[in-house]
Amino acid sequence: MKIAILGGGNMGGAFAKGISKQLEKCEVVVSDKNSAKLNELKKRTNIKTVSNNVEAIKGANVVILAVKPQDFEPFLAELKGKIPAHAIIISIAAGVKIKTIEKGISHRCVARIMPNLLALIDESMSAWIAPNLNPKQKEVVKNILKSVGEEIEMKNEDDINKVTAMSGSGPAYVWYFMENMIKAGVKLGLKEEVARKLTSQTFAGASEMSLLSAETEKELRLRVTSKKGTTEKAIKTLEKGKFGKLIENAIKNAYNRAKELG
Ligand SMILES: NC(=O)c1ccc[n+]([C@@H]2O[C@H](COP(=O)([O-])OP(=O)(O)OC[C@H]3O[C@@H](n4cnc5c(N)ncnc54)[C@H](OP(=O)(O)O)[C@@H]3O)[C@@H](O)[C@H]2O)c1
Repeated sequence: MKIAILGGGNMGGAFAKGISKQLEKCEVVVSDKNSAKLNELKKRTNIKTVSNNVEAIKGANVVILAVKPQDFEPFLAELKGKIPAHAIIISIAAGVKIKTIEKGISHRCVARIMPNLLALIDESMSAWIAPNLNPKQKEVVKNILKSVGEEIEMKNEDDINKVTAMSGSGPAYVWYFMENMIKAGVKLGLKEEVARKLTSQTFAGASEMSLLSAETEKELRLRVTSKKGTTEKAIKTLEKGKFGKLIENAIKNAYNRAKELG
């Protein structure tokens, strides 16, 4: 199976590496108009690269669209009528609707996906929707997403905007919390590298336990919150500052922005 990835930046590069590593029978070719990005990819991998999108899509079974949404209009116009009729199109672009892509390239088999930056380390949470794909084609999309992490199929296209606000932007929320936790540790007098290690291992362990445990996050939290203890003091401070409401508003605003961009 030939998979053409158009746009070899963060996401295109991550998918190229994940697919080449996990899906042995696939031939991957990456095309990008930016030769520096292609050179970077060539330096670290032996993935085939070309500087021409039309050349990349020749004979492709799957075409992954991995350029920025703002570059989409001329990009789709360049591809119109040139993609093989049997090919599955997978768009990573935030906010670009399936209808826009179908119309832009005159093609029906379009899947829209929302991965996150953790695809770079094969730990992406990717959601996808593909209303016009048959079960066999959906399986192809699933396998590609599994090569860079976990996947989940959504039922409505608007769900993709919700996913964008949750797991799409989510790594940044986690890093923002971590960044401030490290700053607080340094203010207490810890060395930065120590504060960083304490913080990152705590996040890694808490995430792992969330994934493995049958208990809810609230139940897990209450397990480490002893009456009149240190954790209770910290949580009460967060509650006084309406931390939960702030998170709710942040995610709602991200969702509204995703809808505006779409
Ligand atoms: N990064 C994330 O966390 C994330 C998460 C979810 C979804 N996404 C989506 O993933 C897509 C790619 O994002 P990214 O972060 O990987 O962007 P990126 O690193 O900027 O990569 C995009 C690449 O496409 C190239 N390009 C632009 N127009 C092109 C064209 N017509 N033909 C071929 N290549 C072209 C760009 O070149 P230039 O640099 O010269 O413009 C760049 O090398 C976006 O649509 C974004 O919405 C990103």
